[in-house]
Amino acid sequence: MTERTFSILKPDATRRNITGKINAVIEEAGLRIVAQRRVHLTEAQAKKFYEVHAERPFYGELVAQMTAEPVVVQVLEAEGAVAKYREVMGATNPDNAAEGTIRKLFALSIGENSVHGSDSLENAGIEIAQFFTDADIVG
Ligand code: PPS
Repeated sequence: MTERTFSILKPDATRRNITGKINAVIEEAGLRIVAQRRVHLTEAQAKKFYEVHAERPFYGELVAQMTAEPVVVQVLEAEGAVAKYREVMGATNPDNAAEGTIRKLFALSIGENSVHGSDSLENAGIEIAQFFTDADIVG
């Protein structure tokens, strides 16, 4: 089934000017970038986006990192896009990420791990709606 998932190219990626390299990996995996925008997240936006992690010890650091510099928010489309993108991203901790995955190729650490991708189809819908309207998405 054709699905849409939500992606963020994180501040470590924009800072190092490697968003094009990451997009090349995304596209080579067969995911289509059907919406994309560069945005500097406010603290309120980042806190809301990651509120599920509010009780985790790294929450403050995560919010600080995500608001330090701009990010690129995206909608990706493919058959089984949610699982496919999670596979292309690789494990959260780059030390555990498989060869050829985005995080193995580019991530600096568990926090500065270059990309975010939705973990379920339900969350993809919720996350997409925080940044895009239907009119922004051109499939
Ligand atoms: S979970 O609940 O298993 O999905 O949590 P996890 O995958 O471990 O991490 C969720 C997000 O938190 C980020 N993270 C961190 N940020 C900063 N510092 C530390 N130590 C840290 N540990 C985890 C991790 O990159 C995940 O970000 P997203 O954007 O959701 O991929």
